[in-house]
Amino acid sequence: CGIVGYVGPNSAIDVVSEGLRRLEYRGYDSAGVALVGDTGLVTEKRAGKLANLAEAVTAAGGLREPRTGIGHTRWATHGAPTDRNAHPHVSVDGRTAIIHNGIIENFGQLRAELEATGIEFRSDTDTECVAHLLSAELAHVDDLAEAMRRVCRRLQGAFTLLAVHADAPGVVVGARRNSPLVAGVADGEYFLASDVAAFISHTREAIELGQDQVVEISAAGLKVTGFDGSPAEGVPFHVDWDASAAEKDGYEHFMLKEIAEQPRAVADTLRGRFDTSGQILLDEVRMSDQDFRDVDKVFIVACGTSYHAGMVAKYAIEHWVRLPCEVELASEFRYRDPVLDRSTLVIVISQSGETMDTLMALRHARNQKARVLAISNTVGSTIPRESDAVLYTRAGIEVAVASTKAFLTQLAACYLVGLHLAAVRGIKYADEVGAVVAELAAAPDKIAEVLAAMEPVRELARSMGTADRALFIGRHVGYPVALEGALKLKELAYMHAEGFAAGELKHGPISLIEAGTPVVVVVPSPRGRSLLHDKVVSNIQEVKARGATVIAIAEEGDAVVAPHVDHTVFTPRVPTLLAPLLTAVPLQVFACELAAAKGLDIDQPRNLAKSVTVE
Ligand code: G6P
Repeated sequence: CGIVGYVGPNSAIDVVSEGLRRLEYRGYDSAGVALVGDTGLVTEKRAGKLANLAEAVTAAGGLREPRTGIGHTRWATHGAPTDRNAHPHVSVDGRTAIIHNGIIENFGQLRAELEATGIEFRSDTDTECVAHLLSAELAHVDDLAEAMRRVCRRLQGAFTLLAVHADAPGVVVGARRNSPLVAGVADGEYFLASDVAAFISHTREAIELGQDQVVEISAAGLKVTGFDGSPAEGVPFHVDWDASAAEKDGYEHFMLKEIAEQPRAVADTLRGRFDTSGQILLDEVRMSDQDFRDVDKVFIVACGTSYHAGMVAKYAIEHWVRLPCEVELASEFRYRDPVLDRSTLVIVISQSGETMDTLMALRHARNQKARVLAISNTVGSTIPRESDAVLYTRAGIEVAVASTKAFLTQLAACYLVGLHLAAVRGIKYADEVGAVVAELAAAPDKIAEVLAAMEPVRELARSMGTADRALFIGRHVGYPVALEGALKLKELAYMHAEGFAAGELKHGPISLIEAGTPVVVVVPSPRGRSLLHDKVVSNIQEVKARGATVIAIAEEGDAVVAPHVDHTVFTPRVPTLLAPLLTAVPLQVFACELAAAKGLDIDQPRNLAKSVTVE
């Protein structure tokens, strides 16, 4: 969910609505606002996209008087996405309004307790109980922040909460445990939000809030305390991208813009991170060379697209560094009791830096004394803050829910970590690794070459609008790329798409193939590891023999594949391990175009959210 709060001299509805628009990628199944002005508290909320809320606000006369407000855009957890389950939720006396991101785990018990006092709940959410609890506390204490602290001490789970009260125009109180909350500070105005995108057009000065803290913003300033009332301070930081980064810039969809930005995003991520001799410079990761030498095992932990970047990293790290490396879905990691100790390096990859599954895996790893290195795109987010070290990708803000440029920058960051580990630990394949550094530096231009040749891929996608399923296969690093290609197609085109290791096809999935079933094959380079190439060509023949329509993503100059397949998309030559930087791109374009051909919402596919802050 996305949340935003405002106090200042301007119309709160304008600031909050703009903030919600910029946060809509965090959830978009319903939205609402609560505003406090001279005439008291007003709320509006609607199921569906923000446009529905905007209509309701217009119908209510525009609500431009209040200067204090909070707003919410929801990704449903408890309760269907309906008007009544939309946030804000209001206390029985109609004077306290609350919005929430996260899950209150003991809400069942709290609800039963409140119902026993005669309160009738008006929603199915876990959030509503907080409105009633706050209202009950306000009967004893005349201070919204103190009431919030008392309530928070009773809550279990993950939450960011924002509250306003009819008697306190000019005050918004926020609280955070395990869910994101940052503050923005401008001249005489203050903002609270899930991330800085919400207020970036007003200020680039932000404050990171810590775990179990309550924050109050008012004309008097910003005051932070712990849940126990102890004084606390946020950590100020400057946001170095500007508001235009969160605009479509003439593109029809954010995703198209973000796909096009990939060469620059990768170049930015690499910039300054190796010197002219090709030596990797990762001083900012706050781990010493000795720390890296002490590592005897690597785990990579992530979700979704970031997990696929981690799978690629496994191939690179094991080959270059000769360290055992396992990749694991964050949502599974801690439950199977992995063997971790002080010499284990856990690399967590998270674009948002907020994914709850990944955060919980990170905490588990640190509790077991492992060292944690985060790869993240979001300065000021929780995962980098709680890790021992961080390497930031520099993709800039990614707005489309399906990740593209963040994925390529995660790959680039993983390669840097792998090369750095190899360098500090002594390299077995010195020549190969040296060449890879030079090739990595040239990768942004090659990504641009791929992008310049995408028209045939778009045409192909348009011609496949009627297909109801697709398979993606690959070997070695082509396997995670196949998984990512299938994920993109599921996310965007709602098509049943599956990725498989090409060799595994014959052990079951090949039974899915019928005449005309599209099979996308990520073909390895025919140079060097030609054994791998031969095997994939055999796999192509297996599916062709069963009637599949085969689309190959192959390396320029690969003359072997073309006669066996229906369509070939060529990508420039790169060392095998770096190939995903290029081969993933046509699959992104393919999914995007196919979704467009079906008339679907490319930036905000159904049921998804960009930042999933619940387990
Ligand atoms: C969500 C998004 C995915 C993303 C995953 C991990 O499910 O919809 O696109 O890959 O979270 O996100 P992270 O921010 O941790 O990289």
